[in-house]
Amino acid sequence: MEPIAETIERLGAIVPDYPKPGVVFRDLTPVFADGPAFRGVVDALLAEYEGRFDYVAGVEARGFLLAAAAAYAADKGVITIRKPGKLPRRVFSESFSMEYSENTLEVHQDDIPAGSRVLILDDVLATGGTLGATARLIEKAGAVVAGFGVVLELKDLGGRAALAGYPVHALVAY
Ligand code: PRP
Ligand code: MG
Repeated sequence: MEPIAETIERLGAIVPDYPKPGVVFRDLTPVFADGPAFRGVVDALLAEYEGRFDYVAGVEARGFLLAAAAAYAADKGVITIRKPGKLPRRVFSESFSMEYSENTLEVHQDDIPAGSRVLILDDVLATGGTLGATARLIEKAGAVVAGFGVVLELKDLGGRAALAGYPVHALVAY
């Protein structure tokens, strides 16, 4: 069977000058659109953390795809990390900077039981702003970050350093 890293490299699309001139964007939608590849990605992320988490958190929007599939496969609950103003009850909020923008993420204050271990999934680790804010939200809720799983890590943007002290598993790193 083809190693998952090779599948991701074979199917991922390289888009020059997106979202701005000089940036090379790596688009994972063809990986997600391929059934065996999508299953392989989710299985590989889960295998790294097997037996070490109670919930899977996904970050709106692209992280939802991975977290929902992984939670279902592992028979765990899925935690919804959303962009601001989308969650109807009391939330914790965390703001952060990204490569192209300022942003905020939120989680419901009572969606995660205190002390539970949460695996956080997203498609891409770039600056680490998104996942760092997500970790702070999980910890504000009194839960524990089991680790991070991403399909693609963009090493030049320093995300792994921004997440120092946490386990980070990337299926592919450029
Ligand atoms: C992208 C990507 C990651 C994040 C990585 O999400 O899906 O979540 O950026 O960047 P960082 O490590 O610098 O924080 P984006 O906010 O563009 O939105 P989307 O998932 O809703 O498409
Ligand atoms: Mg995202």
